[in-house]
Amino acid sequence: REEKIWLTLSFGMIMIFMFITGYQAFAQGMAPPSNKEIIDPQKVDQQASFDKPGITKIGDKEYEVVMTLQVFSFNPGNIEVPAGSTVHFTLTSKDVVHGFEVAGTNLNAMVPPGHIQKITQKFDKAGTYLVLCNEYCGAGHQMMSTTITVK
Ligand code: CUA
Repeated sequence: REEKIWLTLSFGMIMIFMFITGYQAFAQGMAPPSNKEIIDPQKVDQQASFDKPGITKIGDKEYEVVMTLQVFSFNPGNIEVPAGSTVHFTLTSKDVVHGFEVAGTNLNAMVPPGHIQKITQKFDKAGTYLVLCNEYCGAGHQMMSTTITVK
């Protein structure tokens, strides 16, 4: 009798896991990254916001970073901001799907070509944050990284 209980219990667990996995896949499918604008990846350089990728101070401890991703680099790389800064990222890819993940933060975005990805993050703690591409984008994928330094 005891065996039957365990069997039922483990079967129930499997069902729950399957449900969670299914639900996550479904939820992600229904809510793709917050693509707000569509652009032509071939013309990224001519887009008003992307013709000069870089970091701009837009307020007191507030920065805008316009960044392009392409195999296998982030432009601009090695960004520096003072501690306590709020950084608004505007990202796009010039070629294939890349990822934008900042270790130690909640920043994690998919950056597909043809879309503009906007995300904001406040950096309170000083340190060097590793920025990684977390979408496989080719032979140099694992080398695609940069840093954000918070001082
Ligand atoms: Cu870019 Cu992987």
